[in-house]
Amino acid sequence: MSKNNSLKKPVLPKNESGEMSVDNIAPRRFLIDYDESADIKKHWVKDDGFLTHWMNAYTLTIPGGEDFNVRTIRSYIDDITDESLRNTAQGFVAQELSHGKAHGEFLKVLTRQGYNTKIFLSIYNFLSFKVLEPLSTKLSKLAFVVAVERINELIAEVNLEHKLLDESPSEAANLYKWHFAEEIEHKSVAYDIYQNISGNRFMLAYSTLLCYIINLTFLIFGTTACMVQDGSILNPKNWLRGFRYFFTKEKFFWKLSWGCLELQKKSFHPSQNQNLHLAEAILKSRDITA
Ligand SMILES: [Fe+2]
Ligand SMILES: [Fe+2]
Repeated sequence: MSKNNSLKKPVLPKNESGEMSVDNIAPRRFLIDYDESADIKKHWVKDDGFLTHWMNAYTLTIPGGEDFNVRTIRSYIDDITDESLRNTAQGFVAQELSHGKAHGEFLKVLTRQGYNTKIFLSIYNFLSFKVLEPLSTKLSKLAFVVAVERINELIAEVNLEHKLLDESPSEAANLYKWHFAEEIEHKSVAYDIYQNISGNRFMLAYSTLLCYIINLTFLIFGTTACMVQDGSILNPKNWLRGFRYFFTKEKFFWKLSWGCLELQKKSFHPSQNQNLHLAEAILKSRDITA
């Protein structure tokens, strides 16, 4: 593994608001029981087919994706040379474990709504974790997690900034709001670990490109799979909303693309993106309830 000694010191993020420090990263208690919760209407995000299935697709990718993050960061924990960063990494792992578990529970809601999630999950899990992961080097997996975390932060930012979840049933909305807030809270951790371990720019660029393509592909595949199943795949309203989400209203595609390019700049650090205010209210709670 190539090590760049000039990057050995962790770049601990400067906090935008000064109210939280990266050392505080710890999981919150998620107390929504999807066995017990009332049935959630099918188009639960603003009665909108595209937005709902975009969020549903996010849930489909999370349990497997978070397990990958956890495996990868755990494989490096003993190599982290800074004790405070090592503790932060443990907090990151605990948060990602709780995200995977909660979205895994939310899959029960999708099943109750009549969606078959098994076909998507079989393809996604096989290609991602039985084919791509074993073919990747240890360092490229860590760089991939850095890119995933950048993408997760940007998804969180767009959805919280545009308040897309504010009119949704709280059983569903609070899962996403909590997860998005914690993605913003721990946005720097994987980057700092990568800098501490290696900082190799080429590997980061390669893994970011791969991650960008894979993430967009699976999210779009998951969204269309849900639309096919609820019979709304040919509804032009959904496609128009998707176009606006990507290109003109929320501008997700431009923000994601620029955000991934920005990650390649040597002078960039995730803490420079001032978005903590979007998450602050949620991060103050220790228990997540409906
Ligand atoms: Fe997460
Ligand atoms: Fe994360």
